[in-house]
Amino acid sequence: MKPNASNALSALGRRTAVPPISWLMQTALTRPKLISLAAGFTDNATLPVGISRKLLNEILRSPKTGRPALQYGITAGETNLRALTAKHLQKLDGGHDRAHSPERVLITGGSQQLLYMTLEALCDEGDIILVEDPTYFVFLSILQSRGIKARGVKLERDGIDLVHLEQVLERLKKSGELRRVKALYLVTYFQNPTGATTSLAKKSAALKLLKKFERTAGHPIYLLEDAAYRELSFGRDAALRRQSSQRDDPTTPPTALTLSGAPERVIYTGTYSKPYAPGARVGFGILPKPLFTTVQRIKGNHDFGTANLLQQLLARALATGHYDRHVAKVQKNYARKARVMKSALAEHFPASVEIWESGGGLYFWARLPGGISAGVKSKVFQSALKNDVLYVPGELCYADDPSRAKPDNEMRISFGSANEENIRKGIARLGNVLKKFV
Ligand SMILES: Cc1ncc(COP(=O)(O)O)c(C=O)c1O
Repeated sequence: MKPNASNALSALGRRTAVPPISWLMQTALTRPKLISLAAGFTDNATLPVGISRKLLNEILRSPKTGRPALQYGITAGETNLRALTAKHLQKLDGGHDRAHSPERVLITGGSQQLLYMTLEALCDEGDIILVEDPTYFVFLSILQSRGIKARGVKLERDGIDLVHLEQVLERLKKSGELRRVKALYLVTYFQNPTGATTSLAKKSAALKLLKKFERTAGHPIYLLEDAAYRELSFGRDAALRRQSSQRDDPTTPPTALTLSGAPERVIYTGTYSKPYAPGARVGFGILPKPLFTTVQRIKGNHDFGTANLLQQLLARALATGHYDRHVAKVQKNYARKARVMKSALAEHFPASVEIWESGGGLYFWARLPGGISAGVKSKVFQSALKNDVLYVPGELCYADDPSRAKPDNEMRISFGSANEENIRKGIARLGNVLKKFV
């Protein structure tokens, strides 16, 4: 009998589906004329080539600094970068220091690795994670691959719908499934895909609700706060604001880490990918003590430490102020591109399409009226492709949750990687497509 390769695979290997991101990227790469408003990529034009060359030259100038950077490091991350990360987050949280100690900072290969390892640490097959409806679709792919179930919680413009969160938890309690619920995953700043930002009041109320239900669950139900887009705020004086308190800034509320009870219940993940360079791929997590130990052990098995040279690059960028200056530039650039997209949307999209506008990040969210589908198999999506423009069908951002149908009349539209001319052209093409169907 001919050997069957899939018989050699683990259950996880067999189960893992093609991530939607792969075919979206493939489509973009194989059609050179296509304008992609789908990719969550950062803007090529602003990547910090000059700064990084200068800082890497400084690191590699002498054996004294160069050798440690080219050697293996510590699993939890470079000591200096952990301290600088804690300090940076304290500054973003207006000087708050209750939960930002360097001992709880774990440096990872992008925040994606932190998300993956956290799920490995918390969840067995059949466990449940509560997610926003809609949410970051690569996170959903991890759940799918690991056989973890998801339950969607409705999303409003200022974060999750708390009434619905309570209903979902009550339902799980009634069905005896609460003990399988391990965490609520929230993308709290300029959310991927909708651009929504969760208010501090909602984070606080969500944390209280989780605490209320964990008595029945018999274990902590963590709040997993993903702050990947936090620093991509469009605030006019964002650079100035970063030096002082942000408590008064409605677009970037403090993290759930600042709430009382957070040190035991909040897992925070952030990244240097979006504000600095995805190619350096350095992210981090702040975890409750016992979970920190577990995830650190898991990281020991993954890679026993994120690439040291790249950690040193980020540490130097933070310590010299280059990082802050770069972020200020990036923020202005995205704010400008968002304005270009906003006016193109106003000009070309039918008025009946509901647009969610954000105060930062990389995305607009559009909802078509009257049940018109924008899903992968829809006429709208196929016609957009024919007209050489790509968006992310919103349905990909909804978890497989048997308790509700997936909406398919939405689209994520990104201004991250396209230049201003292509943003205008892409939105005009998409607008013309929509006018045929809406
Ligand atoms: C919401 C969200 N979280 C996490 C990530 C992972 O980013 P990285 O691994 O580069 O830190 C992304 C990337 O697009 C994202 O959109």
